[in-house]
Amino acid sequence: MERPVSEDLIIDCDTGSDDAIALLVGALHRDLNLIAVTTVAGNCPIEVTTLNTLKVLESAQISGVPVYRGADGPLIGQIDRTAGWPQDLDLPEPSKTAEPQHAVDFLVDTLTSAETPITIAAVGPLTNLALAFRMRPGIVSKIGRLAIMGGGIAVTNISASAEANIFWDPEAADVVFRAGVPIDLFPLDATHMAPVTSDHVARWAEAGTPAALTAAAFLPERIHMYESRMPVEGGGAPVHDALAVGALVDPDLVRFERANVEIELDGTLTRGRTVVDQRPHIFLADQPKNARVAVWADRERFLDFLTEIFHAQGSADTDG
Ligand code: RIB
Ligand code: CA
Repeated sequence: MERPVSEDLIIDCDTGSDDAIALLVGALHRDLNLIAVTTVAGNCPIEVTTLNTLKVLESAQISGVPVYRGADGPLIGQIDRTAGWPQDLDLPEPSKTAEPQHAVDFLVDTLTSAETPITIAAVGPLTNLALAFRMRPGIVSKIGRLAIMGGGIAVTNISASAEANIFWDPEAADVVFRAGVPIDLFPLDATHMAPVTSDHVARWAEAGTPAALTAAAFLPERIHMYESRMPVEGGGAPVHDALAVGALVDPDLVRFERANVEIELDGTLTRGRTVVDQRPHIFLADQPKNARVAVWADRERFLDFLTEIFHAQGSADTDG
């Protein structure tokens, strides 16, 4: 599908320090028109993900992007394991508040009335989307493409089998992966290939743009946490969610393979696993290849991509 010049985008997120970078990419890239942000519980409770979202946008001097507060927990049960380190972003208190409408109602209304396809980047648990799809199934046809950060093939984080966004609401993920939406999935296997180091953050901060200074306020803590407690190859920290949003406008940041993706709902040890079936076609006759899965990421290209965004804020090149 030919991409429009500037693509209408909604980011559904559980902000967090990597969601925060995804928000900056979505708001500042000239080929994306971030029309709204919807929040969900995940990395931290809904009050915190919503407040973090408002803080990031205001600190980076991004205006005109409404924030809608969404689901405060998964379809079934409660979030019982969190990321394991504080997630409230050390940024000034925002002057704005979230919109009065619930995120799920906003998604249903906006997609129902959309005259052209809308792109969604879902980088937290998929609860809001699943609720919206259940409420008004027809809206799936209004989604041009859906980028999801979630899951893992060989790499996992929250359990030996699962990645956090999917683990926190497996039933919602199951609804979304069965909905027939064109999905690009960004699992940990790809996001871990493109970590950001302290040197990069320092170089961005030298640009002195509001977005670069905002990122520099919280990324060092994220990098320290990864380097001391869960090191990745190449040092630094992955900013998972930003890769998913970046690849919307630069697909060469990753390499995709088509696959059937299903969500494990029952396993005692494997609940929340994304089962990515990469077997040859002969074994897959009755399984739809329902997603493009990013299996590799180009770290240098991604870091250059972020550098350009942070350095160019306010110039004619990124304003949009
Ligand atoms: O597992 C990583 C994902 O979980 C990221 O989206 C992070 O922000 C958290 O939501
Ligand atoms: Ca997230």
